[in-house]
Amino acid sequence: MLREMLAAYAKSGHPTAVSYIKWRRYSTQSYQSATHGARFVQNYANDQAKAYGNFESAGTLPLGAQLAKDSFLASPSGQLGVGPLFMMEKMAAGFNPTSGDWKYTMIMADGTIFGETKGTNSAGMQFCAECHANSADKDHLMFMPVEYRAKR
Ligand code: HEC
Repeated sequence: MLREMLAAYAKSGHPTAVSYIKWRRYSTQSYQSATHGARFVQNYANDQAKAYGNFESAGTLPLGAQLAKDSFLASPSGQLGVGPLFMMEKMAAGFNPTSGDWKYTMIMADGTIFGETKGTNSAGMQFCAECHANSADKDHLMFMPVEYRAKR
């Protein structure tokens, strides 16, 4: 699936859509994420976001930290399909206090950018920030289920 996912995301022209796969992966395998459309996901973080690997002790990630979550769908009959690429990027202080200065971006399976916080279709991306705000005391990070966490 990964080859098809990367080809789909690359169509967006978004720089992260092609670079995220070289980042460190923090999930051991794909797992089903109920909060991201029940798709099968994995989690990646760039060098600036390496504290993500400390999970609940990560603290506040620095400017330039980027997180990506790629996804695919599996139908009950076993058919697979590319799912969106979910991304978070830590912007400068004051960018958007309600999202903890995170910019949320979602790239669809056809390569279109569904929206970006403070950019195209920012209103349509509010739901990302709203749910992640439940974890405002942990820099809006949610972290994956313990059983899928890669050891450092
Ligand atoms: C209903 C709640 C909810 C919504 C809506 C939601 N998320 Fe998440 N997000 C989570 C949870 C819970 C996790 C960690 C567990 C998991 O992977 O399922 C997570 C994890 C992430 C991660 C990995 C970083 C982290 O917090 O551990 C990224 C990146 C991400 N989400 C992006 C997005 C984007 C982009 C959107 C909107 C398109 C979005 N999320 C919408 C709940 C949500």
